[in-house]
Amino acid sequence: MILQRRNRILRATPAIRSLVAETILTPSDFIAPLFIDEGENVQTEIASMPNYYRRSLDGTVKEVKELWSMGIKSVLLFIKCKDELKDNTGKEAWNKDGLMQRSIRAIKEAVPEIYVMTDVALDPYSSYGHDGIVENGEIVNDPTVEALVKMSISHAKAGADMVAPSDMMDGRIGAIREGLEHAGFTKTGIMAYSAKYASCFYGPFRDALDSAPGFGDKKTYQMDFANRTEAIKEALMDVEEGADIVMVKPGLPYLDIVREVKNAVDVPVSVYNISGEYAMIKAAAKMGWINEDKAIIETLTSIKRAGGDLIATYFAKDAVKLIS
Ligand code: PBG
Repeated sequence: MILQRRNRILRATPAIRSLVAETILTPSDFIAPLFIDEGENVQTEIASMPNYYRRSLDGTVKEVKELWSMGIKSVLLFIKCKDELKDNTGKEAWNKDGLMQRSIRAIKEAVPEIYVMTDVALDPYSSYGHDGIVENGEIVNDPTVEALVKMSISHAKAGADMVAPSDMMDGRIGAIREGLEHAGFTKTGIMAYSAKYASCFYGPFRDALDSAPGFGDKKTYQMDFANRTEAIKEALMDVEEGADIVMVKPGLPYLDIVREVKNAVDVPVSVYNISGEYAMIKAAAKMGWINEDKAIIETLTSIKRAGGDLIATYFAKDAVKLIS
């Protein structure tokens, strides 16, 4: 054959493949989510997330030091709230001595340079396990937004660099930005979970924090997975309202959305490679059906290729070890 173009030339050896690779993972792509518990010396493996742990603050601080030493620049904090502190207002969420606030202070003190992001949503604090305040069986928007503003300000006061509202109430980004401005926190960022879908893949996360909804589901606030243009609307509105970064979540089943959002906004796009995505890789690898290391790198590369500038992933440490 006489061919004009032979595409295999650029695939022939590892050297040429790496020379022409379009997407390269680096440690600073990753945000490491951390699950924090009360107590001391507590380290509980999440049943549906093998090799991922909920730790007390002492162990969390150690973990953060290790993450930083590996080149991971950011953590995203989640806490497990004690049952007796849960109620329908979620008021423990803005307790200045709450577990989240203590954690932010301790982490910032131990590793001042690490970029601390915090989850802002009421579900871990809600006796109903919902991301908002419940009235007559409904998740009410505006009173929830007021609570989220208080929560965000209390995280900022404790030293959070960026708050990450994951609740999907309307108008919360603008309200949080305004609240931070009025409280004088002009350096605190907002990473908006803008296109967050009502997904079955959050299951393992809800095990980790004991935060499964007590009734119904989250479909009146999280997005319908049938929808695409709605994601653009959400992302553009959040940018307008003051989001510094917008997020698409989950990751792998929503890469089309990642690309569309990336093309539509002028802020960085983050993607949450969520608990169920972690669990699937772990389970298949345990069965011997896929190669775990390769699945991790392929998954994270595909998320970055789709347009994810930052990736929140439970594989952050594994990935850094694999790419170095
Ligand atoms: C709750 C929240 C969820 C996740 C992050 N924040 C679960 C939910 O909305 O029910 C999921 C993260 C994961 O599955 O890894 N506001």
